Amino acid sequence: MLAVYDWLVLGLVCRWVWRCPRSTMLAHYNAQVGARHLDLGPGTGWFLDKCRFPTATPSITLLDLSDAVLATAAKRIERYRPVVRIGDVFEPLDLGAAQFDSVGMNLLLHCLPGSIREKAAVFDNVTPHLRAGARIFGSTILGIDDRHNAVSAALQGRLNRRNSFGNSADRIEDIAGELEARFAEVRIARSGVVCLFSARHPRGAAPAH
Ligand SMILES: C[S@@+](CC[C@H](N)C(=O)[O-])C[C@H]1O[C@@H](n2cnc3c(N)ncnc32)[C@H](O)[C@@H]1O
Repeated sequence: MLAVYDWLVLGLVCRWVWRCPRSTMLAHYNAQVGARHLDLGPGTGWFLDKCRFPTATPSITLLDLSDAVLATAAKRIERYRPVVRIGDVFEPLDLGAAQFDSVGMNLLLHCLPGSIREKAAVFDNVTPHLRAGARIFGSTILGIDDRHNAVSAALQGRLNRRNSFGNSADRIEDIAGELEARFAEVRIARSGVVCLFSARHPRGAAPAH
């Protein structure tokens, strides 16, 4: 799957089925990513490879359940010498005292099982690792949204039945509510059936870019 992910999922399915081109998600990265960045569920590392960091020498940590994902993403961005950590975003993150300017979770939440309230454990688990003013951001495919059409609804139903997705009850209002309960400057946008979100740690000013 990793071998075809970039063109099949990011290139075709995101644009034509979910109706959020990867260029839109890349622009979201470019607007949010910081010099010390933690990426949860980096996949193939396409966004980390293409995005513009605010420094030529960013410090990047990758965290994922999968060894294969971490090896693929780390190889792709080896020029940045990323730190890799195996981990489950539902558990406290094994990152010691590391603190980040930004935490990305692109196309992650819809893969996780449970309600949005349960998935918000991810927000709680990253909070100890946010510097004052740090940003968290990402995107996720909505399960319940009036922009679903026959094609997107059929694919999303199939992926939920196979447990590849766990988003059948995910609504944009609930994502906004969980972010607003924890963070400042919550911004939510929609492209097709994809929710793009960002928020800032409530303590302190945003780190300088
Ligand atoms: C759909 S991919 C998104 C990849 C990448 N962020 C992107 O936008 O192209 C979801 C990623 O989340 C990881 N993942 C899924 N469940 C996870 C969990 N509970 N903890 C950590 N990583 C998880 C998967 O291994 C995969 O790398």
